[in-house]
Amino acid sequence: PTIVAVVPAAGIGSRMQADRPKQYLKLGNKTVLEHTLSALATHPRIARVIVAVSRNDPYFDTLPLAHSDWLIRVEGGTERADSVFNALQYVDDDEWALVHDAARPCVTHMDIDSLLEVVQWPDVKGGILATPVRDTMKRAQAGSLPLHVAHTECREDLWHALTPQLFPASLLKNSLREALNANIRITDEASAIEWAGYRVALIDSNPANIKITRPADMPLAAFYLNQQDT
Ligand code: CTP
Ligand code: MG
Repeated sequence: PTIVAVVPAAGIGSRMQADRPKQYLKLGNKTVLEHTLSALATHPRIARVIVAVSRNDPYFDTLPLAHSDWLIRVEGGTERADSVFNALQYVDDDEWALVHDAARPCVTHMDIDSLLEVVQWPDVKGGILATPVRDTMKRAQAGSLPLHVAHTECREDLWHALTPQLFPASLLKNSLREALNANIRITDEASAIEWAGYRVALIDSNPANIKITRPADMPLAAFYLNQQDT
């Protein structure tokens, strides 16, 4: 099938506490968003890239790649899922959507290749990149004071969900629409697909594909990007 990348880039980056949204901070000579868009656009299986940008964003148009012929800009929404849903309107029903956070500039072609395998897999309706949790996981007693442990979760089967996440576009559109209408909290694409009752493949992947969230993530991302060049 044709693979179309969908990139939510309409967040404000509150946890980053920078003077602009984190996707517009520079890593070397390019912004985070340019690293991300280039990694996707240069992959031979990706036909085009739909990017969701805030309505009054003053930064996007200044990027050298803003008017590339492989790129379509759409308006972002209130939540990440709304941004993704808007962008999906530019993906045809018979195509597959590969959704990837703007804030993950370290994604590699190898990461994308391993995810693309799920297109052929029986019994699943798409998949996500993920990495096993490393620390012991505690469930807190909700609302307790002092905050204390309710119990220890079994770490064995716990994974961090990363992006990209890959699904048939029609299934993702329908699942997201229904989940949003039902007011389900949707923090990644897979949660909408799971909620709709389908099976999502987990692909054990490279943990260098970090999401830039806090200030200390910038030098870490720069380190991983440098490693790719050497
Ligand atoms: N995003 C989006 N539309 C929103 C919120 C988030 O397109 N309404 C995008 C962000 O730009 C980012 C990705 O979703 O690329 C992951 O979200 P997150 O890391 O939470 O980014 P922000 O929401 O910008 O950061 P914060 O939560 O710290 O404010
Ligand atoms: Mg956010």
